[in-house]
Amino acid sequence: MSNELIKPIIAGNWKMNGLESSIDELVKLIDLSSEIIECDVIIIPPYTLLDRFNSLLRKDKSILKLGAQDCHYMRSGSYTGSISAEMVKDLGVQYVVLGHSERRIQYHETSELVAKKATIAHCSNLKTIICVGESLADRNSGRHEEAIQHQLTDSLPKGFTNLNTIIAYEPIWAIGANNSASVVEISQMHRFISSLLLKYSKENHTLPIIYGGSVTQYNAKDIINIEFVNGLLVGGASLKADSFFGIINSI
Ligand code: PGA
Repeated sequence: MSNELIKPIIAGNWKMNGLESSIDELVKLIDLSSEIIECDVIIIPPYTLLDRFNSLLRKDKSILKLGAQDCHYMRSGSYTGSISAEMVKDLGVQYVVLGHSERRIQYHETSELVAKKATIAHCSNLKTIICVGESLADRNSGRHEEAIQHQLTDSLPKGFTNLNTIIAYEPIWAIGANNSASVVEISQMHRFISSLLLKYSKENHTLPIIYGGSVTQYNAKDIINIEFVNGLLVGGASLKADSFFGIINSI
């Protein structure tokens, strides 16, 4: 998939940040991005703000889209404390992030579990953003492609298409770091992922592949211009409307 065929996707993952007072940042972002038509912007707040954000986006007829940070692998049932795909869909959510390295590491989520969650998310008409990323140890020992191939093969659900699935490549060592991965590292891995997707896809097409890991308004343009990079998944720099809009504007 060449960069010209799809609009760049810019997603902002707030992680476990955001209170009632943070709604001002969304209001500011809606205002700043009212003219944006060149890219798809997805805002991914914690569950607790989804309903408020949905109301605000609808009230202002905003082009911003809403995402959730995770969902359960079952449709409903006795899973205290969990949130289902159908529940977030009910709040106006269109996208769900699955398999973020923080969940893989902190909650021991496996790629097989990610695939199960993706299946249920697709049944609820959510688009999935499936994250893959190698550790520093994998990278230093030259096993980064092998690590990504395993994660990708096992995390993709049956029936994935370029309409319901986005892949986010996020090297773990570049998340919340001082620097993103280099242009060469991103370029090589995105090309590799794209070639794998082409092999796995029944329809013989790849999926949008977005990059995440220390993206800022200063490096966004260089990263988005790399071949096979179809967008950005932004963490820290998405929390403030000014810095997130700086990224959107720079591309
Ligand atoms: P970061 O986070 O932009 O703060 O590095 C990226 C992510 O974890 O999605």
